[in-house]
Amino acid sequence: MRITLKTWLLVFLIGGFLSSYAQKQSFFSPEKALMPVGAYYYPEHWDRSQWGRDLKRMSELGFSFTHLAEFAWANLEPEEGWFDFEWLDWCIAEAAKNGLKVILCTPSPCPPAWLTSKYPEILNVNDAGIRSAHGGNRLHANQSNPICRKYIERIVTEMGKRYGNDPRIWGWQIDNEPHLGTIYDYSNFAQVDFKNWLQKKYNNSISTLNSAWGNAFWSSSYNNFNQIRIPNEKESSSNPHALLDYRRYTADGLAGSIRFQATLLRKLVSPQQWITTNFAYYKFLPPVDLFRNKGDLDFASHTMYLLSTFLNYPEGALNFRLGSGMELSFSNEMAKSIQGYTGIMELQPGQINWGVYNAQPLPGAVRMWIWHSFGLGDQFTCTYRFRQPLFGSEQTHKGIIETDGITVARGGKEYVKAIAEVKNLQKYYQPNPLVPISVASRKTAFLWKQDNLWEMQVSPHTKLWDSWQHYYTYYGNLKTMGATVQFIQETDVFDPKEFPFMVAPAYSMVDEKIIAKWTRYVDDGGHLILSCRSGQKDNNGHFHETLLQQPIWKLIGAKVEDNDQLPPDRKASVLFDGKNYSWSVWGELLTPQKETETVATYSDQFYAGTSAVVNRKLGKGTVTYLGVWTNDGELEKQVLRTIYQHAGIQILDLPNYAFVEWRDGFWVGVNYTSETVKLPIPATAKMLIGTTEIKPGEVAVWME
Ligand code: GAL
Repeated sequence: MRITLKTWLLVFLIGGFLSSYAQKQSFFSPEKALMPVGAYYYPEHWDRSQWGRDLKRMSELGFSFTHLAEFAWANLEPEEGWFDFEWLDWCIAEAAKNGLKVILCTPSPCPPAWLTSKYPEILNVNDAGIRSAHGGNRLHANQSNPICRKYIERIVTEMGKRYGNDPRIWGWQIDNEPHLGTIYDYSNFAQVDFKNWLQKKYNNSISTLNSAWGNAFWSSSYNNFNQIRIPNEKESSSNPHALLDYRRYTADGLAGSIRFQATLLRKLVSPQQWITTNFAYYKFLPPVDLFRNKGDLDFASHTMYLLSTFLNYPEGALNFRLGSGMELSFSNEMAKSIQGYTGIMELQPGQINWGVYNAQPLPGAVRMWIWHSFGLGDQFTCTYRFRQPLFGSEQTHKGIIETDGITVARGGKEYVKAIAEVKNLQKYYQPNPLVPISVASRKTAFLWKQDNLWEMQVSPHTKLWDSWQHYYTYYGNLKTMGATVQFIQETDVFDPKEFPFMVAPAYSMVDEKIIAKWTRYVDDGGHLILSCRSGQKDNNGHFHETLLQQPIWKLIGAKVEDNDQLPPDRKASVLFDGKNYSWSVWGELLTPQKETETVATYSDQFYAGTSAVVNRKLGKGTVTYLGVWTNDGELEKQVLRTIYQHAGIQILDLPNYAFVEWRDGFWVGVNYTSETVKLPIPATAKMLIGTTEIKPGEVAVWME
């Protein structure tokens, strides 16, 4: 059935976009600067005689803000209770003199030696029982610890009092990429804190905990909370339900520490100064859950190192020089989903120091990343860092300026170019641009539940399962259609007028409430796309006492009979629209009900001919269930395209790793593939940068 989009739906969609613009107006004004660009500066790394020169240079190169005081606790409070702000005052004055706004950072990741030697109990302990030590370390203390909190409260209060009403300060970054240096903490403090958290969660009832953790298994039950220790896989404590709770506890602690500082600053700083934290790319830090801080921050900012070697890269000879545009996009859209807008706090200007290897970016790539960040709607871009350090553990990290402190590095030159180009675009900006219908109508909700990620990391069932790669199969394919993706949660409103499409990949843990909510969403006209493993478990991570995934059978219009997994070197086939696609990691055998259409079938193995992908109509919408995960994601791509096209939506057909975005009236196309790409630019478009055909690492900007 073809669904025509009604005008009121579009008005609604456009209204949604505009209201998020309205929200950010007070902090960011596109009519003055579409996307200010800034750079990190660490005055404490350089002789004071150079600060004025450096900040002047920063300004002359086109940067409009700098970022100070991160990690500088030992300089701000050299001894307990003795504060020294003179150097920071001086540097802020120099920045202001050169027309640079300042982002101030709270130095909580770096407790000074006087603090950690007086209270070593605040230090994190890793899973092997080794306590973190002072010295070339950061994020080595647990900020949930009340002693640590007390000292953080004091330094942040001093900073807030001093700079909270200073018009030279643009905004605040709390901490840095908040997480525990050891990822999880097994210290004595954490042992007690975890027990308290459990007591609260389980209303002080050990029998409730015993059943939630399935402690009847292997005689694991506890008589009281005092017997519980943090589940540590190194000690072979592998109760999956306890591990799940421990992840939830850690995430609560991290979010609580950010909230603590945000609440404190909120009381001290002017409403004109914004408060954020720079969430590191979440994939590396599983216990960091951005949604837990929704409401605490003015917005969530994000950081991304595209060549870090740990990301998802496309095929192609140049992939290691162009980086993972898909993960930059994912990171941006996740951060943006928290409050409707975001900015990138750290973007590499060149070679970094911490990848498996650290390749040079392809000439042009640094500029392309800035433009991609622009296209994705970042309200600002900040590069890490202005000067390459001469000492310390990040010595080999490029800056905008080389080690001599004077010469502009290759990446620095690309910054200069991109900054000038963005400034030049300003003259084409028209206030309150209408979101193009094509963009609004492709808006897709990605239903996010961090518990699912944790549950599957704890119980993957096959070592070949990687939830992130599974999410990227869907996310990456959505981007090839030019879809704007918003991450939402179960507690959000599922309104098909706002989100005509919703993907919920491998949504393993479900209860009746979410199934009812999905059903209503589809009934009302939404198009729901679920993938394999969905509905397997309840919210404790137990199987439902039903047949496999039975709670979702009615919704998807099919039975899930079983699942299969293959050895890593084997490939099986699934047939869709006359073409075979290969899969290895996960395949489910589906039996469709009468009204359900089989979209794809297995073409080999003992179950050849069995359904692998099914689709059904329900009320005014549709449900598609993909029980198989293909090796290259091509089947998923074709199925997604079919769903959007049947719904009457205009979609793009971009190669993987070419991206087209719209913001503030501008279309931006970037190319991370190793081939030349022809962008879908109408002949009538006004080209502002580049041409319709862009080479690897190139950019095009146009207005339609
Ligand atoms: C980031 C971190 C920065 C710096 C940078 C180096 O993850 O937030 O402080 O260490 O890496 O690339």
